[in-house]
Amino acid sequence: GSFRPRPVPWWRAPQERAALLQLAQDATPRYVYYLPTVLARARQLKAIAAVDRRYYAIKANSHPDILRALAGEGFGLECVSLGELERVFAALPGFDPQRVLFTPSFAPIDEYAAALARGVTVTVDNVELLRRWPEVFRGHALWLRIDLGHGDGHHAKVNTGGKEAKFGLSAQRVDEFVDAARALDVRITGLHAHLGSGIESVGHWQQVVDELAGFARRIGSVEVLDIGGGLPIPYSDDDEPLDLDAWGAGLAAVKAVHPAFKLAIEPGRFLVAEAGVLLARATQVVEKDGVRRVGLDAGMNALIRPALYDAWHDIHNLSRLDDADRHDFDVVGPICESSDVFGHRVKLPAATAPGDVMLVADAGAYGFAMASAYNLRALPGEAILDHDAIASACQSP
Ligand code: LLP
Repeated sequence: GSFRPRPVPWWRAPQERAALLQLAQDATPRYVYYLPTVLARARQLKAIAAVDRRYYAIKANSHPDILRALAGEGFGLECVSLGELERVFAALPGFDPQRVLFTPSFAPIDEYAAALARGVTVTVDNVELLRRWPEVFRGHALWLRIDLGHGDGHHAKVNTGGKEAKFGLSAQRVDEFVDAARALDVRITGLHAHLGSGIESVGHWQQVVDELAGFARRIGSVEVLDIGGGLPIPYSDDDEPLDLDAWGAGLAAVKAVHPAFKLAIEPGRFLVAEAGVLLARATQVVEKDGVRRVGLDAGMNALIRPALYDAWHDIHNLSRLDDADRHDFDVVGPICESSDVFGHRVKLPAATAPGDVMLVADAGAYGFAMASAYNLRALPGEAILDHDAIASACQSP
């Protein structure tokens, strides 16, 4: 078919843009999350009839307002640490623990015990846990994460399947796990696979459902197949947005073959990436050996994705958004590392100058969540933007 371009970003609208410039006045670097976009993505996923349960992987962005917005849309919440579990119950007092999934990797045993004590659904991914701490798990219903032996994703560092990945029970050991579980009166009620992040092929999810269903039939007690997160978003104009209709149709087709099971998904990025921008201020503009660089007051400490995965993020000069005269800039941060580069040869307004407000786009997922205090730089700030906030920002002078 023909290429479907990505939608115009929310921050290009005049009121939203004005609100961002206002928010940048108070403090930079600062993440801003636009709730209408989070809600729009949530509703797109709710429209996929083949999916019975939706969880949000809060590791992508655990801002309390985002958790509340998604819980309000009926999403469950997927956590991977005690800290994330505590964040959920602090943001949503009285939240039904049955809507919370705990899917840790090599976590201390106390965290599993605490999650079970709260009534949260716990996913385990090895038999050694049951052998070493039988009393923690005895009598509980558990979900089992299986390594299907293959993985995928936007970068080798986010591929979570196969022999070299630390996640999941080897498919060869499923029978062994089932025996160990039976001996402890543990019921396996869900099977889980998350094979990577930023996966574009619709066939991937069909294959995962198909393979999990095969194991589920062998095990017998399984009700839910959780096929993980991993839905991509278009980070550049060259990326095509996920065809959700095709995705949903693919799931419906494979579900028709395995009608006994409910399907669950747990996306992170898809729900929040496009809702977030990182606002930073230009610090210096420097020319060296024919390369022009603009420095930002945000670096790899604020957003590590470009340094860690060579990830692409669009970068704009919000103060001069419509300037036609452009020049190539390397966009860098203030951290003492050569990898502290947000983008090479980015076309920006030629007039870009210290003090300009710069915007790093699509930073709502794995942005603040992965920020650090490296070089003893402060963590970036965070702010929520919704229609009410814009209305009040537009009233102030
Ligand atoms: N479920 C499990 C078990 C996961 O490990 C993850 C992500 C997700 C769900 C959500 O995946 P998503 O829908 O967001 O792709 N820091 C990397 C991504 C690492 C993802 C880790 N696990 C990045 O910035 O690209």
